[in-house]
Amino acid sequence: MISIRPETPADLTVIDSIHRAAFQNTGEARLVQHLRDAGKLTVSLVGLDGHLPVGHIAFSPVTVASGAVGAGLAPLAVLAPHRRQGIGAQLVTEGLQQCRAAGIGWVVVLGEPEFYARFGFVPAATVGLTDEYCGGSAFQALELLPGALPRDAGLVRYATEFAGLALPQG
Ligand SMILES: CC(C)(COP(=O)(O)OP(=O)(O)OC[C@H]1O[C@@H](n2cnc3c(N)ncnc32)[C@H](O)[C@@H]1OP(=O)(O)O)[C@@H](O)C(=O)NCCC(=O)NCCS
Repeated sequence: MISIRPETPADLTVIDSIHRAAFQNTGEARLVQHLRDAGKLTVSLVGLDGHLPVGHIAFSPVTVASGAVGAGLAPLAVLAPHRRQGIGAQLVTEGLQQCRAAGIGWVVVLGEPEFYARFGFVPAATVGLTDEYCGGSAFQALELLPGALPRDAGLVRYATEFAGLALPQG
């Protein structure tokens, strides 16, 4: 049975190994650790198959020049043997709901438009937002609370902990 819940201290080692395995490098695993250490994991959820964590999603603060704060979805990973069972989609859906419940009005992601369009994400360029990574159509935005999306605000900056990561993939 698949379930989604917030991370607990007991999950940290397995979250680390999920990202190392899914991305086949240490960048995303280290990013999650650094965000957690900095108190910037706004929402951090694990996806379980039974009692075993097999997926993880993180959200951290993003800002625009006007000072508006949203959330960046990154990283998202599910262990290969557990993919295509809807765990990734459930992590996104629950993560967005928890962001909304926390009063976060908008979210951005750098990811596959095919995957993220189903949650309502639109190309960020169509609402006047750009990213630091030349993400093009992969950079997408979603308004969670009416009127909250800072349209035409230009550059969206991820947390400083993202510096050094080639592309903060959601
Ligand atoms: C992306 C990832 C998290 C998806 O996890 P998952 O549990 O397999 O996702 P789901 O089962 O909820 O997939 C839902 C749908 O998204 C599709 N999908 C998954 N990854 C996709 C991708 N990269 N591009 C386009 N579609 C994708 C699946 O085909 C599935 O479609 P279907 O329902 O029509 O069959 C997983 O493949 C992963 O960990 N990849 C490696 C890490 C990574 O690249 N993360 C960034 C993703 S943008």
